[in-house]
Amino acid sequence: MSYSEQFSGIRKAGNLAAHVLDFVTPYVISGITTQELNDLCHQETLRHGGESAPLHFQGYPQATCISLNHVVCHGIPSSRKLVDGDILNIDVTVILDGWFGDTSRMFYVGTPPLKARQLVEVTYRALNESLTCVRPGGHLGDIGACIQHIAEGAGYSVVRDFCGHGIGRVFHGDPAVLHFGERGTGVVLQPGMTFTIEPMINAGRPEVKILQDNWTAVTRDRSLSAQFEHTVGVTETGVEVFTLSAAGYTCPPYTANSGLAP
Ligand code: MF3
Ligand code: CO
Ligand code: CO
Repeated sequence: MSYSEQFSGIRKAGNLAAHVLDFVTPYVISGITTQELNDLCHQETLRHGGESAPLHFQGYPQATCISLNHVVCHGIPSSRKLVDGDILNIDVTVILDGWFGDTSRMFYVGTPPLKARQLVEVTYRALNESLTCVRPGGHLGDIGACIQHIAEGAGYSVVRDFCGHGIGRVFHGDPAVLHFGERGTGVVLQPGMTFTIEPMINAGRPEVKILQDNWTAVTRDRSLSAQFEHTVGVTETGVEVFTLSAAGYTCPPYTANSGLAP
C-alpha cells in the first residue's frame, strides 16, 4: 500500500499554506487590520491555484482565522487594527488539487511584553518537541504527553476543547490529536498517517468560552493564549513536516533578510 500520492498531494498543499504565512509576514505590523491580512492570504492562495478551506466551511465567513492575545482560536478577521504589543496567530488552510494543508504561526506586533513572548516561545517548543514523537510504533498519546509536560512545566495550561485532526482529502478527519495525555496510550502510529498537531497553550486557566459570533474562542480568564500548527505525516523512519517555512520562519520575531550586513 503506497501513500506516496497522498504525501505528494499534502506536501504541495502544506508548502503552499506555509508559503502564504511567509508571504504575509512582512505585512504584520502596527496599523494593518486583520481583514487586510486575511485578504492578502486569500489572494496569495488563489494566485497559486489554491482555495482557502475555511471560507464557508460550516458557515465560517472568512478565508483565515486570526486570533489575537486572549483569543484561543477561530478569531474572525475584522476591522480591528494591530497595535504594538499584540501577539497573534494566523491560521491558513489551503486546498490544492483536492488536498488540504493546514498551518498556523504566532506573530508579534512590535515587541510584546516578556510574559507574552515567553508564552509564545514555550508553545513553539511544545509543538517542535512533539514532532520527535511522530514515528511508526509510537503512540498518539506520546504527542499529547510531550506537549502537556512542556506547557505545564512552564506554568501554563493546555486547552482541552480543541485538538489536532487527521487531514488529507478532508479538512478534519480521524484521528483526534489531543495535546495532553499519557505516553504509550492511544492509536499506534503507522507509516502513511497524516494529521495536524496544533497545541493551544494558555498563560492562565485552560477553559475557553465561545463568543456570540459562534466562532471566536477566548480564554475564560482573559489570559493570553498562543498556538502553532503543522501538518505532518508518519514515514517509515519518523516524521515528514509538510508545512515548514521555506523562509526559515519558525518562532517570532521574524527578521526578514534584507541582504545587507547588520
Ligand atoms: N484551521 C483550523 C484548524 O486548524 C480550522 C479552522 S475552521 C474555521 O483546524 F472554520 F474556523 F475556519
Ligand atoms: Co488544524
Ligand atoms: Co489550522
